[in-house]
Amino acid sequence: MAGVLEIHDLRKSFDAAKVINGFSLDVTELTLQCLVGPNGAGKTTTIDLISGRQKPTSGSVIFRGDDITGLSEHEIARRGIGRKFQVPAVFRELTVHQNLEVAYSRETRVFRNMFHFTVPGCAERLEQVAVEVGLKDRLSVMAGTLSHGETQWLEIGMVLMQNPSLLLFDEPVAGMTEHEIGKTIEMLNELKKNHTIIVVEHDMGFVRQIADIVTVMHMGQLLAQGSISDIEKDERVREVYLGAEEEHA
Ligand SMILES: Nc1ncnc2c1ncn2[C@@H]1O[C@H](COP(=O)(O)OP(=O)(O)OP(=O)(O)O)[C@@H](O)[C@H]1O
Ligand SMILES: [Mg+2]
Repeated sequence: MAGVLEIHDLRKSFDAAKVINGFSLDVTELTLQCLVGPNGAGKTTTIDLISGRQKPTSGSVIFRGDDITGLSEHEIARRGIGRKFQVPAVFRELTVHQNLEVAYSRETRVFRNMFHFTVPGCAERLEQVAVEVGLKDRLSVMAGTLSHGETQWLEIGMVLMQNPSLLLFDEPVAGMTEHEIGKTIEMLNELKKNHTIIVVEHDMGFVRQIADIVTVMHMGQLLAQGSISDIEKDERVREVYLGAEEEHA
């Protein structure tokens, strides 16, 4: 299958600290790839480097054949990479509907919806996204009154409004209830039918239910990659990560 994203020998230093230290990755079309690893392994920094929030010290990021290394966050989003942050950032004083509308308008023209009642294509897209993220019955609710899980889904919806083909989700189920995690698993399994997705996650139980491929990072490098069962059997992974997780449990 076609390659969506290729990361070549990526490096990022903050002062003397080599946080990403020669990391390479290939992401295939319509796969859901989980990026796991211990705290401080460099997972969020990798997402920051793909999405343009941070610039790499060296190495390259190729998206659908184009070198996007060092482009602005805005330009990378425009090319079809959507990113959801670890902490949701929705407009609390606006309704769910208005939040989704604003997210769509950003793709066409900033805050165009403030001056026009209808933005072409918005209503159809909004309807579809509201169903995809399970908020169809919550459109008139003020975003500030949503539960934590619903807020995360709204933010996923806001990313989807921009119609990205590659989705980057950093710990999307952090702080969710078991019930909300269950719904998110269903949502991701639907979304991966027509999106390529990278999910950063700690919880291996969650990873097991969504991942096509699991990539393990350790100290800014690729430690192992494969199916969830390959990863769980891998001795090095058990040593640096799974073993440590069991000790904490
Ligand atoms: N802006 C920054 N300046 C200095 N150091 C940073 C910066 N951002 C990240 N780091 C360091 O880089 C390392 C990797 O951080 P990163 O946030 O990418 O890890 P992570 O794998 O996402 O961890 P977690 O599982 O805790 O979210 C950490 O040691 C962190 O302290
Ligand atoms: Mg992180």
